[in-house]
Amino acid sequence: TTVNWSAEQTGKSGYAHFMLKEIHEQPTALRQGLSGRLDELAGQVTVDELDGLETPTTVQFVACGTSYHAAMFGVETLRTAGIPAQTFLASEYATGPPPIGNETLVVGVTQSGETADTLSALREASARGAETLALTNVVDSTAARECDHVLYIRSGPEIGVAATKTFSSQLVALTLFSAALVDQRGEESRERVAALRALPSDLQYVLDESRTADVVDAYLDSAAYFFIGRGPNYPVALEGALKFKEITYEHAEGFAAGELKHGTLALVTGETPVFAVVTGDDERARKTIGNVKEVEARDAPVIAVTDGVAGVEQYADHVLEIPNTHPQTAPVLANAQLQLVAYHMANRLGRSIDKPRNLAKSVTVE
Ligand code: G6P
Repeated sequence: TTVNWSAEQTGKSGYAHFMLKEIHEQPTALRQGLSGRLDELAGQVTVDELDGLETPTTVQFVACGTSYHAAMFGVETLRTAGIPAQTFLASEYATGPPPIGNETLVVGVTQSGETADTLSALREASARGAETLALTNVVDSTAARECDHVLYIRSGPEIGVAATKTFSSQLVALTLFSAALVDQRGEESRERVAALRALPSDLQYVLDESRTADVVDAYLDSAAYFFIGRGPNYPVALEGALKFKEITYEHAEGFAAGELKHGTLALVTGETPVFAVVTGDDERARKTIGNVKEVEARDAPVIAVTDGVAGVEQYADHVLEIPNTHPQTAPVLANAQLQLVAYHMANRLGRSIDKPRNLAKSVTVE
């Protein structure tokens, strides 16, 4: 028999789209990102590239788009490590930079290392005397060359315009970055290292078992789609909505779970499905469940993305399950479910998934 594969199909290894291929490459991408950086016995993280870096007193992140959502997650992980951090949209930072104190590190999160807004922000920071670090996927990219330090996320090439595996790799790299900066030890640190070690296989499980293709069918003709989450799941909600908009061309918005009631609740009806990311069983999870009840009371269909620990399922019309893991690794798993939601919805709607209209993989103008 002859197999007639086009060059396009060969590049996609049999997947219908680069995006789907790259979603499925994530376990491998994360293994690459973690390789040689975890010491499980000691419960320590070592990132050789950060050797020459003094622990900063504050960190300012600059980034755009999906990378901005990763930076928001970075703020959260640094906060738990005790380092104050803020994130700025690079386009705003470039033209109105905040004050830079002594020992402020400015981190550009940019998978391509070529985004004009992010490069401008980094140059502005550097001109004002800040130390700079590029968190990037591309070796020798402009950001990598121009910054004082560079941390590679090692995701491998990403072709689909919608960033998927690079976002997951950024989340993992930012977790490593926070842990390495403060040299954490002890039981808590060991638990995180073990969760990072298990993350590629946990993610494989999510990809193998995901029921997203069936779930999206129930919501094809909705008026709008909302995504909510708290803490480290807040950037996941924003990213879930952004991915959804980019490739389905449907209206979607992400919110901090507690913020929905301060205005947008006016738009919530039986025609607006709400994707709620709830992981762990802490105060955040319980409060997010409270927010889920608020939208349920307005007849909104609820799709819970959850590890099942806090019991949100009883308020949900559909559940997208993830394994129970550490609070800093759960967002990577929840995000994978939302990537698949966007992908399958866009596929049902016949959209141009790898090259969405009006968008470019890397935007080199300000
Ligand atoms: C473009 C892409 C986005 C990406 C953003 C930042 O707008 O379409 O997917 O998140 O640039 O890209 P970067 O390479 O800096 O991470």
